Amino acid sequence: MKDMLSIVIPTYNEKDNIAPLVERVHKALNGHEHEIIIVDDNSRDGTIEIAEGLAARYPVKLFVRREEKGLATAVIHGIKQASGSVIGVMDADLQHPPEVLPAIVKAVEDGADMVFASRYIKGGGCPNWGLFRKIVSRVAMSIAHVLLPSSRRVKDPMSGFFMFRRDKVAPEKLKPIGYKIALEILLVGSFDNVVEVPFIFEERSAGQSKLRPQQQIDYLKHVFSLMARTGELAMFLKFIAVGLSGVVVNMGVYWLLTRFGGLEAYDYWAVVIGIEVSIITNFILNDTFTFAKRRTGKSFMGRLLKFNLICLAGAAIQWGLFMFFTRVCGVYDLLSNFIGIVVAFLWNYFVNRNWTWK
Ligand code: GDD
Ligand code: MN
Repeated sequence: MKDMLSIVIPTYNEKDNIAPLVERVHKALNGHEHEIIIVDDNSRDGTIEIAEGLAARYPVKLFVRREEKGLATAVIHGIKQASGSVIGVMDADLQHPPEVLPAIVKAVEDGADMVFASRYIKGGGCPNWGLFRKIVSRVAMSIAHVLLPSSRRVKDPMSGFFMFRRDKVAPEKLKPIGYKIALEILLVGSFDNVVEVPFIFEERSAGQSKLRPQQQIDYLKHVFSLMARTGELAMFLKFIAVGLSGVVVNMGVYWLLTRFGGLEAYDYWAVVIGIEVSIITNFILNDTFTFAKRRTGKSFMGRLLKFNLICLAGAAIQWGLFMFFTRVCGVYDLLSNFIGIVVAFLWNYFVNRNWTWK
């Protein structure tokens, strides 16, 4: 590869891992111009002294932060210090095997501008994980895939092992909370060609994981922040506003038809017409306002049909939940109906967002 490579490695108390790691990274990148940027948050176990020693023998640059702490900000710090035009990021604890680097570099050479080392494609995995950690990881991934649909470009947006072209993202735009820096870069950057390369997430060879329950909370905050910054949240709020306007239309049509439209004796038809008219006005508003930026190149009638189907299914869901909660669980009817409305609303939003305006 013609480009210089900068491998950014955040460390916190990794004294037993850092030397074998640097040695293996250096070996794996043999033949490519590279530097290894270690960003340490003032480890107390001797990591810093060992890294200083490594800097004499390998192309290692060490940065020690004394004021700030945290994995994601450490990585950004490293990115800002990097001289390479291609930047790789990996953990220090050897859970990310450096021997995967050549395959990642190859993907960049073949035209990718971001590469994820992935546990969730064929050939990847985390064989040493217990069921609980597997579930936590899958749930976290699904949250990203549903709430931040652009993250679906990769199967493993949670990976901490990745590489990207530096000119595709402005470091000052990165504002991650917690651990998921690759997710942040993927959604904030402008990448045209994102690919995944499989890897096996090894067992930690020494020291301890810094993952705490606080990180799960940080993760949710981070997803919310990304929703706000990528426009997902604005779409959600607009969809709510449009939905409320639909209630007015729905009621208004019913009122007009039964009072002035000659359907006094056919109120059940007036309800049906009110529903359908409000679905159509909701569709037009969502198409021109909520999802205006997402309409490119697809047919108006196709979208209208999808929207209509999804909303009717939503109504069926609301009805089903109402019956279930009132008849089976004995829940108060107004509360049952409210639960049905909320679930049907979420259904309408997410399915339309990801299918009608995908
Ligand atoms: N500088 C710095 N500051 N480094 C840190 C900090 C910090 O506050 N916290 C952790 N690190 C370093 C560790 O030394 C290690 O090199 C790396 O960041 C990952 O930390 P671990 O504590 O080993 O994280 P993990 O194994 O639980 O999580 C890893 O796997 C996840 C996927 O399950 C990370 O790669 C995550 O990014 C990834 O999502
Ligand atoms: Mn780890």
